[in-house]
Amino acid sequence: MTIKEQVKSILEKAVSKTLKRNEPIDMAYPADISHGDYAANIAMKLGKIMQKNPREIAAQIVKNIPKNTLISKIEIAGPGFINFFISEKALKSEMLKVLKEKAKYGKCNEGKKKKVIVEYSAPNIAKPLGVHHLLSTVIGQTINNILGCIGYKTISINHIGDWGTQFGKLIYAYKKWGKKEILEKDPINEMLKLYVKFHDEAEKDPKLEDFARKEFKDFEEGDKENRKLWKWFVAESLKDINKTYKKLSGIKFDFTLGESFYEDKMADILAEGKKKKIFVEGDEGSYIAKFEDENMSPLVIQKKDGATLYSTRDITTLHYRINHWHPEKIVYVVDMAQNMYFKQLFDVAKRFSWYKNEAVHVSFGRMRMADMQMSTRKGNIILLDKVLEEAIKRARKIIEEKSPNLKNKDAVAEIVGIGSVKYNILSQNRTTDIVFDWDKMLSLEGNSAPYMQYTYARARSILRKAKMAKSSGKTVEDKAEILEKTSQLLRTIPKFKEELIYSAREYKPNLLCQYLYELAQKFNSFYNSVPVLTAKEPKDRLFRLKVVESVSQILQNGLDLLGVAVVEEM
Ligand code: ARG
Repeated sequence: MTIKEQVKSILEKAVSKTLKRNEPIDMAYPADISHGDYAANIAMKLGKIMQKNPREIAAQIVKNIPKNTLISKIEIAGPGFINFFISEKALKSEMLKVLKEKAKYGKCNEGKKKKVIVEYSAPNIAKPLGVHHLLSTVIGQTINNILGCIGYKTISINHIGDWGTQFGKLIYAYKKWGKKEILEKDPINEMLKLYVKFHDEAEKDPKLEDFARKEFKDFEEGDKENRKLWKWFVAESLKDINKTYKKLSGIKFDFTLGESFYEDKMADILAEGKKKKIFVEGDEGSYIAKFEDENMSPLVIQKKDGATLYSTRDITTLHYRINHWHPEKIVYVVDMAQNMYFKQLFDVAKRFSWYKNEAVHVSFGRMRMADMQMSTRKGNIILLDKVLEEAIKRARKIIEEKSPNLKNKDAVAEIVGIGSVKYNILSQNRTTDIVFDWDKMLSLEGNSAPYMQYTYARARSILRKAKMAKSSGKTVEDKAEILEKTSQLLRTIPKFKEELIYSAREYKPNLLCQYLYELAQKFNSFYNSVPVLTAKEPKDRLFRLKVVESVSQILQNGLDLLGVAVVEEM
């Protein structure tokens, strides 16, 4: 149980003892730490229900809280808030837990080993990854990591878009303009060129779109040559995409299953849906699913020529996942352009008897470039590989300026560069536009990877030095200041687990980032005013070193969940 949960449970008991009723209790963090560590507005809620003075109710409840080692002080404030102050003893013992559990600190059993499928990245292939692919990839991986950390059994899946009309376009373009030798030499770039060329030409001559559809239809019907080309395109794309995942580091899938995997499974679902009238006839022999909600247009499930669609594969995929893994929940990390689509998809799925689970669309906003154009020509994209290279280059330059004497600058630049790109995305609220801003992401100040990595390295360097030097014993210490800064830092430690659970519940990695940023700031402020290596008393020095070590451990554990690596020196 987190400290917050323990306080909540103590309060719950007191409420039920006082009023002989069980009310759900919300615990919050007071905005001002002088109001304590946790606050509850339960007395105000009850006051309304019972038509009584909330402060009086609060006083009665507080009287029924037995003395305990966790809470050092309780205050009734304002209109009837109950504010709790955690005892120094409990805070210290939480800190010692960090030192004991090390990399495992933060793990808990909130998820009760329930199975959750997390789907993310899911690029449409036959083109290289664009910078916008970062969003689903990085946000999804982190959500997967956090859910795993708090005790869910996660299954991560990359639902590769290896089916669909884009392959018709590519096949058409290759047959018309492509050359085997060239494509063999540099497959990904050549595919991209063909793809862009197709779009340019199709703008002049829309008939090309029909030709591409025909190529795809032939392919779906088993045309040998088109199948061979498809296989080749897919294999080359996957090789390239995996290279990019590797560069990003920490991107892992338990399963990579393309849309093509469901090819032979769609007929059954189509038949079942038609039989149950979930899919009804639309125009000219197509099949659609209709919705009661007028704002939802019908979802096409099968085209008039019999061809399947993205939606057909998705319903089939959902059925497969449920049938094969029996998950409690399926999480789709996909951009918000598909909000309506997922609403339709889940609404349709619910009409099948096999759908007994919960599917969630975790959507995110668009990526906006602060200092670059997002997309150049139609079909053209900002290549993710190029962006990652650029990030590493920029990080290298900063390191050169700030730490000219650092060893292994290249390795550090890679870790800082990649970490910056990831952290920049993860630290923003996913439900809004996500701004890609070089200066902000590489800044050594503010809520950025370099700031976090620098803080970690600083803490580690203190710990290294502690092994060499002894206490000086000469320092004059400002007792009140030291107490204050230490207490602020210690009080931030238990929130790690609490914020992890919030981030998981809301599928919002930015909550974890915000917490780590707060911890780093408090740590830096602690270190700026509390002598650690030069502490007057050896026992103080020992204790403060423990504080430093526990903070560095939490920073490491938190950043690890975000897929941001740390360095010992920078
Ligand atoms: N490949 C799709 C795209 O790039 C995203 C897939 C999302 N997942 C799904 N099950 N539909 O737009």
